Parts: sequence; C-alpha cells; structure tokens
Amino acid sequence: MTSKTDAIKALKAHAATGAPTDMRAAFARDANRFETHSARLDDMLLDWSKCRVDGETVALLEALADACDLDGRRAAMFAGEAINTTEGRAVLHTALRNRSGDPVMVDGADVMPAVNAVLAAMADFCHGVRDGAIRGATGEPIADVVNIGIGGSDLGPAMAVRALSPFHDGPRCHFVSNVDGADIGDTLAGLDPARTLFIIASKTFTTIETMTNAATARKWLVGQLGEDAVGAHFCAVSTALDKVADFGIGADRTFGFWDWVGGRYSLWGAIGLPIMMAIGPTRFGRFLDGAHAMDTHFRTAPMRQNLPVMAGLIGYWNRAISGYPSRAVIPYDQRLARLPAYLQQLDMESNGKGVALDGTPIAGVSGPIVWGEPGTNGQHAFFQLLHQGTDIIPVEFLVAANGHEDDLAHHHHLLLANCLAQSEALMKGRTLREATDQLLANGMEEAAANALAPHKVFTGNRPSTTLVYDRLDPFTLGRIIALYEHRVFVEAQLFGINAFDQWGVELGKELATALLPVVETGDGADQRDASTAALVAHVRALRAG
Ligand code: F6P
Repeated sequence: MTSKTDAIKALKAHAATGAPTDMRAAFARDANRFETHSARLDDMLLDWSKCRVDGETVALLEALADACDLDGRRAAMFAGEAINTTEGRAVLHTALRNRSGDPVMVDGADVMPAVNAVLAAMADFCHGVRDGAIRGATGEPIADVVNIGIGGSDLGPAMAVRALSPFHDGPRCHFVSNVDGADIGDTLAGLDPARTLFIIASKTFTTIETMTNAATARKWLVGQLGEDAVGAHFCAVSTALDKVADFGIGADRTFGFWDWVGGRYSLWGAIGLPIMMAIGPTRFGRFLDGAHAMDTHFRTAPMRQNLPVMAGLIGYWNRAISGYPSRAVIPYDQRLARLPAYLQQLDMESNGKGVALDGTPIAGVSGPIVWGEPGTNGQHAFFQLLHQGTDIIPVEFLVAANGHEDDLAHHHHLLLANCLAQSEALMKGRTLREATDQLLANGMEEAAANALAPHKVFTGNRPSTTLVYDRLDPFTLGRIIALYEHRVFVEAQLFGINAFDQWGVELGKELATALLPVVETGDGADQRDASTAALVAHVRALRAG
C-alpha cells in the first residue's frame, strides 16, 4: 500500500499538472460528470461535480484514506476503542443513537442499557412537562424552558430546536449561553417564574459561564417564588452527578451522560433534552433514527458512494492540497440559520489543531475556518467576495427540495433557483467577452462597454458542493448532523490529528480566572503585560464613572 507521504506527494503532483482547472471544459468533456461526482443516500444527494476534481483526484484521495487507515480508524471508533488518546477515552456518540439493538461495548461492558435508560427517563420527564402532569411550584403548567449551557451544551440543541420549528408542540425553548448578563437578562425579562423550567446543561458542571448564569437564574426564581421552589423549576444534564446534587437538583431531575461523549457530539442524549421538550419523544426518536441511518451508511457504503467520506475527501482536497483556508456553509434553509455556528464548534474545535496524534507538530495544515449564513441573505452581504474576491472560498450549499409552507410554494421555487444559480455562477463565471457582449446587447456604447466589462468578469472555477434533501424534518436533520460529524472524523484521519480533545480552549479559561480579581479590584494589573494592564486601567476608569 502507498505510504501517507507518497499519497500526499501524488495528490500535490496531480494538483499541479493533472487536476481540472477549467470547470466548463470538464463538464463539456465528460457527459457523466454529475453521475460520477455525486452520491446519494435515499433522497439525500451530495454533488461535488462543481469542484476542481476528476476521477483521478478521487482515486488519489481514496489512496490517501487507505494510507491513513480510515477503515481501521472508523472501526476502532465504533468498537469503543480509546481513540481520544490525550484523554484516554472512547468516542461513542454513535451509541446514543444506536437503534440497532446491538450492544456497544466500552471496557468490556455494554453501554446500551444505560443509554436507553437515560432516553426513557428523558421521555418520561418530557411527557410530564408537556402534558402538564409535571408543574411548577405554584401548580402552574410549564410554558417556557430555558436551557443554560455553552458550547456543546448549547449550540447543538439551539440549532436543532430552531431547525425543527414546524414540529414544535411543547413549551417554548430559550437558550442562554453567554456570561454577558445581557443574555440571561433579556431572556428572563419576558418570563413568568411560575411557568418556567431551567435546564442546567454542562458536561463538567464547572464551566464558569454556565455556573454563573445558573446561579443568576436560581436567584431570580428564589427571589420571586422562594427557596422551596428550586426543586420544581430546575433540572440538570451532566456527567458530574455529584456537582449537580450540590447545586440542589434532585437525582430524579438529573439526566446523565458519559465521558465517552464529547461535548460537541452530545446532542443525541441528555443534552438534547430541550429538543425533546420542543418536539416530543417520538419525533426525537426519528431524529436519532436519522443519525443512525447515516452511521450505517458511513460504516458500510463504498468510499465513492459514501456521503461523509466524500465530503471529507473533498474538504481535505480543498484545504490541504488546494490550500484554501476557509469554507463557507450556506444553508438555503432559514431554519438552519444556526448550522454554521454549530459547525464552527464541531469542525474547528475538533480539527483546529497543530499537533499530530503522536505529539509532534503536524506536517502541513489542519482544519479550515468555517463560517456562513443562510442564503439568500448571504447573497446580499458577502457573496460579492465569494464571486470576485481575491481568495477562493469553497462553498457548501444545503437545500431542501420541499419547504414546509405549502401555501408559499413560490417562495421555495425562488429559494431553490437562487441556490442553484449561485453554485452555477461560482463554477461558470463570466468571461470578458461575455460581459462585453452582454453590455453591447443591452445597447451600451462600445467604449463604455469596454470600460465597464472588466468589472463584470467572474473568474469562475470556484468550487462548491451541494447537499439536497427532500424536506427538513427530524429524521433528515439527524442525517445532516451525523454526516457532518463523520466528515470531521474523516478529515481528522487525513490530517493525522485527534478530533476529540480541545486543549486549545484551556489557556483563555485559565487567564480569565486569573484576571477576574484584577478587573474587580485593579490589584495585580501591573504584573500583566503592558497592553492588558492598560486595558484594565481604562475599563476600570470608565466603570468608575
Ligand atoms: O469550549 C470548551 C468546552 O469544553 C466545549 O468543548 C464544551 O462543549 C463547552 O466548553 C461546555 O462545556 P460543559 O458542557 O462542560 O459546560
């Protein structure tokens, strides 16, 4: 088998001389280009034919995947091996959505009974809150649920709750994450404590933002309903059951998970409680079914038909071989407005690393900058740069064939047309000749047309992928998220890094803890660097009035 070094060398040589650069020509040459550069899972279709790759590129990427033992690494993950080596942990978020009935072993024990017990407890609790059997301390039914968490304990549920709004039939869900008092202040302002339930979501139950917001929520509630009301208005999601008990939340309202579930991969279990509250346990089950369907596809489909594998290989090609530093995720699906933010954590906290699995600096680059906004809004903001800017930024489009607003079909046709038009424009571009001819055809004088035409040239050949699905429902959302999780995994294997730790967030946390008393009192400012000391002084002067 080719070594990883040789596989990368071959890819770089191919990029320099063999890979397609003129996409119009590539489509003209190969009538089957779309068929050979796309893959399906039922209604879901991933099209990478508008990327600067051909059959040979994909074959070389597959050789690299083999050289990196992608199959073996994937099998090790699903088998519960401790592939998160820096923390000595298995990586088994897939067990949370294992619908097969098969056991999943960690350290010789089947974790599925515990997984299913937590799901059953969540369902009982959600049923109780949703049908009014579980009420607040004064006997009022719960109308609003506030999830207090951050990072993986916020972004996934917040994204999914918004994505599934057509399926909401439970209490309203709100999300508070930022330690900025504005977040909890604005949220509490509209709420009635007697009808509010707080979910304190923190894997570690130590995260300063979450603990600060939880304490503020507790104080707000106690101030209006008294200390005895706490038990009826708080529940918790955590792996740190002892710390939850210390906060005063009962075991019957504590939903656990395990250290083999990474925070950013955790919305499938107890961290998904707000999702289950909003859409109900049955639909939450469909969400898990969708993710499990993607897991099965990821484990069994051959590389070229495998959506997460192909998304990962193309992502790696764009980032590591073509050298594009960022990628834009553009859902033409307003309800996926928080998908880019969610993917920023999933992708960048997983693959934004400079150290290889063996502790040495990685050769080359790691994951790209991920960003985005829904279309069509992005078209009226940053698409100018995507089309004519000096950086090439691969774009990942997502779009549903059908919306939920049956009476607004015209809107959906416009949405679809815009999505497809953008990927077409990025690929085809517009030549100087075409730009000039268009201006002349519109009646412009030749001199004026020649002067204006260069501004209307689009270089084209800008890569994009498109993911199309039937309709955004719980099953499909589960598939989409699992697709991205596995894609991040595939890219991590090619980069040669551990996607499941996040040491890079530690230093800032440590320094914030150290700076808190400095900000509060000014003492010790002189021991910080000159910039930090001066900023502390300026802030303190402004606060003093
Ligand atoms: O930002 C670092 C991080 O550890 C994330 O990985 C995690 O999702 C987030 O903080 C929240 O952590 P916790 O759930 O323990 O409060």
